[in-house]
Amino acid sequence: MSLPSAEPARGSPLLLAGACALALLILLWPSEPSPLPASPAPSHVQSIDMAERLPVSFGPDEIRTILRLSPPEPIPEDPSNRFASSAGVIRLGRALFYDPLLSRGRKMSCATCHDPAQGWTDGRASALDDPQLKNTPSLWNVARRRWLFWDGRSDSLWAQAVHPLESPREMDLPRVGLLQRFFGDGTRRAAYERVVGAGPDPAWLAKLPTRARPASHGDPKSPESRAWAGLSGEDQAEITRHLVNLAKALAAFEREILSGQAPFDVFVRGLRSGALDDLAALSPSAQRGLKLFVGQAGCIKCHFGPDFSNGEFHNIGLASLPSQELDRGRERGIERLLADPLNSKGTYTDHQGPKATLRVDRLVRGGRESLGAFKTPSLRELTTSAPYMHDGRFASLGEVLAFYNVLPGKPPVGHREESLQPLNLSPAELEDLEAFLRSLSADGPVPSNLQAPTPLYQLD
Ligand code: HEC
Ligand code: HEC
Repeated sequence: MSLPSAEPARGSPLLLAGACALALLILLWPSEPSPLPASPAPSHVQSIDMAERLPVSFGPDEIRTILRLSPPEPIPEDPSNRFASSAGVIRLGRALFYDPLLSRGRKMSCATCHDPAQGWTDGRASALDDPQLKNTPSLWNVARRRWLFWDGRSDSLWAQAVHPLESPREMDLPRVGLLQRFFGDGTRRAAYERVVGAGPDPAWLAKLPTRARPASHGDPKSPESRAWAGLSGEDQAEITRHLVNLAKALAAFEREILSGQAPFDVFVRGLRSGALDDLAALSPSAQRGLKLFVGQAGCIKCHFGPDFSNGEFHNIGLASLPSQELDRGRERGIERLLADPLNSKGTYTDHQGPKATLRVDRLVRGGRESLGAFKTPSLRELTTSAPYMHDGRFASLGEVLAFYNVLPGKPPVGHREESLQPLNLSPAELEDLEAFLRSLSADGPVPSNLQAPTPLYQLD
């Protein structure tokens, strides 16, 4: 069947004619909010048998939903980080990301756990196989996340970066020791001063207690916390300012970690243009999976937008594992976010003044709904970031889908969100869903500008 060349009237039955009219339908659909090409349908579209190319028929609402999923919009600006777009600071951040000097044992960098070759994760269920740590999230497109960490306890990329640097289970450098080490090295100090500004005064820095770090990273009575509490407010602020600058450089680099065009994006481009080659980017199985994803399976309720995440928190009812301590999830995350001096209400953000919109103020206080809830992860680039979920309990996408199909067990705290119901899909349908999830991965090589530079601190 081929499409007629006459333009159909709005609302005519032809508009609803399903798959065969698809390309034309998209180009003419009146209330489509995504930007569509202004030009009319390319003439070749009108004589092409679309049904052959699109084995699945999508209704107008489904098409509208699908068009909202791609292309990914440009990453939002970050007014909280004045270095966010500075090319020099981005290069500094890249060096910092791969710099093992920033860990106590001089062996661990951010890339130890966020290895670009493994989808910016370490491929383990819990980071470093430490049961106290969670599954390492991928950093692809991380600049689009509103809240950071599985429980959202940070509201900016730079505030997030301070945690692993100081955390005793991760890089474990108290902030004073970290600054002494970093600025005590001529190459590193020079790199910082070239792109950020004057580093801390060496004589002042040398006199500070190396182990000082705020109590947020452990016991308030520990020698580290007491050493920190013994410093003057001005010293604490000056130390934190330089630490935050390093964190802002890391964040500036992380904004570059953007995934490439996935087969799904090519398919959606094909929906817009009618180009058959593009429409063929999704196999019939993946197209059926897409239909399930936006329809019957209801995944789209939480995994929507170009990142396939609503950016918020849900308790999907994962049963507790024997080794696990109770985790209140987002409920605790909110408490920690509000108590964090580095949150967007604090004094270290560059977005100051009455007009500044503070993420913290836009907090969804879910009440009981926050209990046991974790952040909806993005579904882009899943093929390299196994295992899955906040505790990495599922080794494969098949296991994830088997979970959604049956919803076994009960969560240890809170309750499973009522909107989630067992899917009861057939094995063939589950395979289709998986084929669709796989189509969200570009699977390309990691761009060289994101890999470790050699030498590390060459900023040209
Ligand atoms: C020991 C392994 C490890 C190291 C080292 C590490 N991370 Fe992570 N990272 C994790 C884990 C685990 C999480 C999730 C923790 C949680 O949610 O409780 C995480 C979370 C994040 C997130 C939040 C992502 C999201 O979607 O919420 C960002 C961003 C991040 N890390 C960046 C960094 C940077 C920058 C460094 C270096 C300064 C770093 N990480 C060092 C393991 C690590
Ligand atoms: C009620 C909201 C909601 C719905 C509906 C939903 N998800 Fe999720 N999804 C989540 C949350 C929240 C997590 C993380 C849960 C955790 O780790 O505790 C998650 C995790 C995942 C993961 C693991 C990703 C990773 O990187 O670890 C995959 C894959 C996934 N969901 C796919 C789907 C599919 C496919 C559907 C439809 C069958 C679906 N989800 C329906 C909220 C939802």
